[in-house]
Amino acid sequence: MPNTLEKVASKAMGTVKAAKAGLQGLTGVFMHLMQEHGEVSALIKRVALSDDVDVRRELYPTIRHELLAHEKGETDALYPVLAEYPETRAIAAKHAQEASALEAAIRSVDAVDFGAAAWAPAFKRLADLVTSHVAEEEKDFFPIAQETMGEERARGLTGRFEAAKRSANDGSY
Ligand SMILES: [Fe+2]
Repeated sequence: MPNTLEKVASKAMGTVKAAKAGLQGLTGVFMHLMQEHGEVSALIKRVALSDDVDVRRELYPTIRHELLAHEKGETDALYPVLAEYPETRAIAAKHAQEASALEAAIRSVDAVDFGAAAWAPAFKRLADLVTSHVAEEEKDFFPIAQETMGEERARGLTGRFEAAKRSANDGSY
């Protein structure tokens, strides 16, 4: 579990990202997703910049859970909606591929002991994938998705996303 300072830093980064979403004109589920991107990115950065095994042991389970639950929420509640529209259908297909790659990267980290030399490179691969996935969603996917579905539907999807996320079970991936 993150300590208080890490939680505060994570929440702060989430708030910054939500504000950025607002400036970009994103709302509803898209603003919520950007906030979560900020929160998990702060934790990932904390781990990537440290070689302390205790930091890995404390924070990786939270990062892992957050990434898997976030992707499950998106995959169940958001991207099927995007698959409905011709304008965003290709995005939904691309996201499915990227979510699988993310899951594979998580499995690679899971397979290594926290103290092993291979842990940092495996975690770096995951961190780099998350960074590029998040950048693509925020710059390319979300703006066109919101424009296509409209603000009202974007707002309505937040609750569905949260429910899908809560139903995530880490063991099932
Ligand atoms: Fe995603």
